[in-house]
Amino acid sequence: MKHVIANLCIRCGAEHAPKPDRYTCSRCGGLLEVTYDYPAIRKNISRSILENRQDPSMWRYREFLPIAQDSETSGLRIGGSPLYPVPRLAAQLGLASLYIKDDGINPTASLKDRASAMAVVKAAEAGANTIACSSTGNAASSLAGNCAARGFNTYIFVPERAPKGKVAQLLMFGAHVISVKGTYEDTFRLSAEAIDRWGWYNRNAAINPYLMEGKKTVSLEIAEQLNWQIPDYVAVSVGDGCTIAGVWKGFKDLYETGLIHKLPHLISVQAQGCCPINKAFASGSSTLVPMPEDTIADSIAVGVPRNFHKALQAIRESDGIAVNVTDGEILSAMQLLGKTCGVFGEPAGVTGTAGIVKALEHGQIPATASVVSIVTGNGLKDIATAISAAGAPLSIEPDMAMLLKAFKAQGWHP
Ligand SMILES: Cc1ncc(COP(=O)(O)O)c(C=O)c1O
Ligand SMILES: [Zn+2]
Repeated sequence: MKHVIANLCIRCGAEHAPKPDRYTCSRCGGLLEVTYDYPAIRKNISRSILENRQDPSMWRYREFLPIAQDSETSGLRIGGSPLYPVPRLAAQLGLASLYIKDDGINPTASLKDRASAMAVVKAAEAGANTIACSSTGNAASSLAGNCAARGFNTYIFVPERAPKGKVAQLLMFGAHVISVKGTYEDTFRLSAEAIDRWGWYNRNAAINPYLMEGKKTVSLEIAEQLNWQIPDYVAVSVGDGCTIAGVWKGFKDLYETGLIHKLPHLISVQAQGCCPINKAFASGSSTLVPMPEDTIADSIAVGVPRNFHKALQAIRESDGIAVNVTDGEILSAMQLLGKTCGVFGEPAGVTGTAGIVKALEHGQIPATASVVSIVTGNGLKDIATAISAAGAPLSIEPDMAMLLKAFKAQGWHP
């Protein structure tokens, strides 16, 4: 791994050898970030090398990842998600150009697969075969799926509010599932204690610096799929802040190696009922003020974000914007994406799109902009919320006269 320089502490600047199971700074407890020898990467990679690669998964970007070139992966096909141009939706919103990056198509149906796939590789490099995490649901199900595919054990802590679809995934993948009667913060604390006690490999958000490296592959894909023409804005929903920090790291890595010559502005979208990162950004503060976890978008209901500083830094460095959306706006975005694009996202999955709609309405982004919205999770994970947004189907006796009557009542004119 000659291309990895160190794991750098973002608080005190100490550089640590990039061991697979070093999570935080031994000097000050700060979070670590993987740093690379960009000129060395540049020697081994180019646009045309990438374009000629057959592997559509996230591992096509190995030169940019902190793994040994021969490391074994879970074998699931992670990444290579479609980037859909959606001109009709763009026109409806009055926007010059809009793309939807649908990461809900990953094997366990969320962007978190990218991070969990990385965790499994790093755990193996550390000689571990049991991995644990706490999660609002998607990190959990992705870890469980990737562990199952690699033959590893997993202990998963989720808050009891986690939607049934995500819990079903965990159980089906054979995880040891611990449903905690408390908030996500309570769940995180208990998982941290248990991980310390039993010495499991730690896939907790933010604590493990390699997760962000997996997530950044979504940006490498976006750049390649757009033929290296970087959009003006990239919108993403934000909970713990690891995803947005990973998205930013991906674009920066490409920029540093000279594969792209422009960086996008990030649109950080949080739920109005739980937006500690956006609040800090808006007030220019760097102090985390915890918030209640009050939103239907369960995956981003994070009152004490673990990756607060990296997320804030990403929004600031990108000269980005922060948008808070109501639960109603999130539900509308679910329907909008479903009806105009055929993309079914879970509430947190479409929160980025809800943010784009609102940012346009408020003049925070110009109508001339090119924008990518990352849909981070699939709607089938939480059908109760989906049905509350979309309503019930027409229920009818098997009779044509009844059908005609019902059509009339609905105002449907086939
Ligand atoms: C579907 C979905 N979107 C967005 C996020 C936000 O990611 P992060 O917590 O890293 O900010 C999550 C996290 O669980 C998620 O599951
Ligand atoms: Zn430090």
